[in-house]
Amino acid sequence: MKQREYWSSKLGVILAVAGSAIGLGNFLRFPVKAATYGGGAFLIPYLIAFVVLGIPLAWVEWTLGRYGGKHSYGSAPGIFHVVTGKPWAKYLGSLGVIGPLLIYFYYIYIESWLLGFSWYALTGELMSAVHKSTVSELFGNYITLKTTLFEGMPAALFFFILTFIINFGIIGFGIRRGIEQINKIALPLIFFLGILLFIRVLTIPGINRGLGFMWNPDFSSLLKPKVWLEASGQIFFTMSVGIGAILTYASYIRKDQDVALSSLSSCAANGFAEVVIGGTIIIPLAIVLFGVDNVEQIAKVGTFGLGFNTMPALFGKMPLGSLLQFIWFTLLFFAGITSSISIIQPAVSFLEDEVGWKHGKSVLTIAGLSLVVCLVAVFGLSGGSIDELDFWGGTFSLVVFGTIEAILFAWVLGIDKGWEELNTGSHIRIPRIFRFVLKYVTPVYLIIILIAWMITDGWGFIVLKGVNPSDTVTILSLTIKKVVFITSFRLFLLALLIAANVIIFKVWKKRPLKPLVK
Ligand code: ALA
Repeated sequence: MKQREYWSSKLGVILAVAGSAIGLGNFLRFPVKAATYGGGAFLIPYLIAFVVLGIPLAWVEWTLGRYGGKHSYGSAPGIFHVVTGKPWAKYLGSLGVIGPLLIYFYYIYIESWLLGFSWYALTGELMSAVHKSTVSELFGNYITLKTTLFEGMPAALFFFILTFIINFGIIGFGIRRGIEQINKIALPLIFFLGILLFIRVLTIPGINRGLGFMWNPDFSSLLKPKVWLEASGQIFFTMSVGIGAILTYASYIRKDQDVALSSLSSCAANGFAEVVIGGTIIIPLAIVLFGVDNVEQIAKVGTFGLGFNTMPALFGKMPLGSLLQFIWFTLLFFAGITSSISIIQPAVSFLEDEVGWKHGKSVLTIAGLSLVVCLVAVFGLSGGSIDELDFWGGTFSLVVFGTIEAILFAWVLGIDKGWEELNTGSHIRIPRIFRFVLKYVTPVYLIIILIAWMITDGWGFIVLKGVNPSDTVTILSLTIKKVVFITSFRLFLLALLIAANVIIFKVWKKRPLKPLVK
């Protein structure tokens, strides 16, 4: 039987998981959410979700992943089957293969914008747009493929293909030579660049006003359920839990290697990058330079608007503006790439370990499939393709999959066995209160969140409440009703999930359970 790869060191896997977690969520999504939902008070539901959802689910994924890896399974279907011994569990695992792919399909496009904007910072084009106050126009034209780079080649398409090749190139080199190596370079770079910007922002006269706006607590916000939902959603997204990525990464750990402390180390690195660095840069800077009076306006431009439209202008007003713009977009690009590779790996591992294909064939198959869907997402942007992928992959699937993991760990495998497995090889003594948290608090909290979110946001989105039936979209010169586009896109995503389940069914028929690795 084929020998699976292992991380070369404990540091290697800690950095890889931290790299998966530290992404656009830390530097763009978190500051906007925190500033919008109560400032300093947002940290209360955020920290509660960190303790009762983030840390326990990360432990669950590290533990189940390592266990699956011992039995040469690297993705959720195989891991769930071997951990629980229940044949039905493998079908639930299909969500841990398709869910991350759905995130990948749009995440990589946004990641490629960062590469494009790093390029514009270098060439000075961004700076001249700042002087002419046309950054929003540059951004709008860029993402809608109107800006060209070479003879008629849309710049966004060029940088997308480049980013795509870089991602699959890294995956092609495998766990040790590809993923581990890039994280060993990127993580120190992300912290270095992040801390540079952090220091630069802190030395701006009047920054206290910005920090005050960001962190002054508005405790009345804690009475709104939406604030609690947003805090939990942010924990899922930023820590990469409920995606399936950590599960897969952990399957490449040696069989008795510590998971408890390693997991906490990655969680701590992510928390630092998010709250300390992410929480200090964009919002405080925007407040100092634009003034509190324009706060409303700043909040309205939203996550990406702030990152792409506002930041270049803010840095552009400072000495060495082009360099600061370049640092900002490069930092985000590296943060993005270490996350995006982690969300492709579950599907690649699935084809390699569960289906039994060779590495090259698995990587090329996922690359081919991703290219097609990514292009649909790129051209269907105005039809809402990215919103759909973000909803189903980046919001819905995470919580559902996290709930499944929590229940399988504490109730199907059983908390006694789960706890023992988590503590095997552990370098720390985990407080026993977490046994109780893992068994009761995490699953119950998750179920409540799922129901509350369905009532407040989820259902409306599913039934297309915000879409006018007469709205049309034009995709590659074809004009169709938006409702038709979204419905067809959803059916296609559903077909992917069904296809994954059919493959699981067929593969297991041939090879019911693989032999144990000694
Ligand atoms: N955890 C990754 C991020 O924060 C997906 O962007």
